[in-house]
Amino acid sequence: MAQTSTTPIRHLLEVGQFDRPGIEHLFAEADRMRDLPRSAAPLAGLILATLFYEPSTRTRLSFESAMLRLGGNIISTENAREFSSAIKGETVEDTIRIVNGYADAIVIRHYEQGAAHRAAEVSGVPILNAGDGPGEHPSQALLDLYTIGHELGRIDNLRVALIGDLRYGRTARSLARLLRLTEGTELVFVSPPAVPMGADIRAELAEAGVPFRDDPDLDAVLPNVDVVYQTRVQKERFASTEEYESAKGQYVTDAEAMRRLNPGAILMHPLPRVDEITTAVDADPRAAYFRQAHNGVFIRMALLNELLADGSTTGR
Ligand code: NCD
Repeated sequence: MAQTSTTPIRHLLEVGQFDRPGIEHLFAEADRMRDLPRSAAPLAGLILATLFYEPSTRTRLSFESAMLRLGGNIISTENAREFSSAIKGETVEDTIRIVNGYADAIVIRHYEQGAAHRAAEVSGVPILNAGDGPGEHPSQALLDLYTIGHELGRIDNLRVALIGDLRYGRTARSLARLLRLTEGTELVFVSPPAVPMGADIRAELAEAGVPFRDDPDLDAVLPNVDVVYQTRVQKERFASTEEYESAKGQYVTDAEAMRRLNPGAILMHPLPRVDEITTAVDADPRAAYFRQAHNGVFIRMALLNELLADGSTTGR
């Protein structure tokens, strides 16, 4: 797969695998997938396993829809934490070794950071990381940047505000990392004090020369950005209810906030939302989150096709 222009690799584990030509190629492929006739079926006869140890609606179903649209087949466990042999004590490594005998690629979502990397260590078939605890969610970040390109006509020279739980929110972490591949991007972090963007991501951005700053004043930020990326406070990751209560509900985008937002800007969210975007906002043409979710199918088609097609692009 063309994660980088020079070294095709076999797994999708983190956004650090990509370079600029790699994402441009992927986005062009995703565009091509929009109009792919079902009869094309480039992955006919292949099987994708989706192994989800954490809840999901969009990610699992859009990966499965993508595989089916490419003519492939799917096998799936949607509650692997309870209903797979994990509950009996089986390790991720053993499960992956077994599923290698059943499928040609494996999409995995796991509650531990680094689980997808561990899976890849023992896998002979491509592993796609669909979220590893508070670590990364690379396919989401790719569809997010692809959506920005579609909505605004460019992925460079953007002021992007990441709002909400930036500590545990793996989509915001992956998107911040991916934005290193763009030019002239400025990042603003708007987060409750308990859940700031991690030092690891800040260090990477600094090294890449991407300017970023923290600003807790969402009202002041809204008129001055091109992209607002709202996120859910990740309740399931907090050590205590008190800690969660201290972080939740602080940043809500409502109709009033939309009046402050730049007319040419867009509002994104990886979804699911809880209370951080009110439903009154949905009808605003700048609310891009449902279009964003639909784009996930095309990005995931492009990813699966790159990893699995035995055609010219992968060299497999
Ligand atoms: C996100 C996730 O699982 O990290 N959901 C998604 O895949 N779109 C965001 C979230 O759960 O808040």
